[in-house]
Amino acid sequence: AAMTQDELKQAVAREAIKYVVERDIVGVGTGSTANFFIDELAKIKHLIKGAVASSEATAARLRSHDIEVFDLNQVLSMPVYIDGADEVNAQGAMIKGGGAALTREKIVASVADKFICIADGSKLVNVLGKFPLPVEVIPMAQAVVARKLAKLGGEPRLRFKDGIPLITDNGCVIIDMYGLKIVDPVAMEAHINQIIGVVSVGLFAKQGANVCLLGMPDGVKTLTF
Ligand code: A5P
Repeated sequence: AAMTQDELKQAVAREAIKYVVERDIVGVGTGSTANFFIDELAKIKHLIKGAVASSEATAARLRSHDIEVFDLNQVLSMPVYIDGADEVNAQGAMIKGGGAALTREKIVASVADKFICIADGSKLVNVLGKFPLPVEVIPMAQAVVARKLAKLGGEPRLRFKDGIPLITDNGCVIIDMYGLKIVDPVAMEAHINQIIGVVSVGLFAKQGANVCLLGMPDGVKTLTF
């Protein structure tokens, strides 16, 4: 029988355990694939020192498994950060933030020596941008940032949840950019980063994946960058 998308996510989550360094801290991402990883991590929790979480949701799931969650300010370094992605290209550049956790994901990833991306094979694309690019924005700057983002060609839309603007773990809002074709991810990331009022953009290009584990019907494919 064909593997379901959840089975593909589970397969890459299991494979990612090989990258976890014993007696050290592991950075943990957010989303459905990261959740499968957390459940696998629970099985070897006695071998690790603990984890740093990229969202309140991930922290809660780690704690539910009795995995110690460290404040990033207590942590000097970590060998790996393991997280899903909404899109990844053949160079390891990613769109992330479908789960609204992009800023904390980027911060935790910036401390890690390596980014291990785990995703089902459907996330691999030639050109990034079919998935709307999330941008986290200070609420009072929402309108001015949207006007500047519109000049990049796509259509900026404020993200809503349950009928009201979604508020992130950081008290900010998300503008999703629809219809972009991101041919130069590094340049696009740098450009959006310098718009005043932007907290972070869900483009991980300068700080892309070092390893990507892709769940394919015939097994896990490993891309290294
Ligand atoms: C969370 O903000 C995102 O960056 C996730 O990593 C991304 O949305 C992937 O989520 P799934 O594993 O649920 O597809």
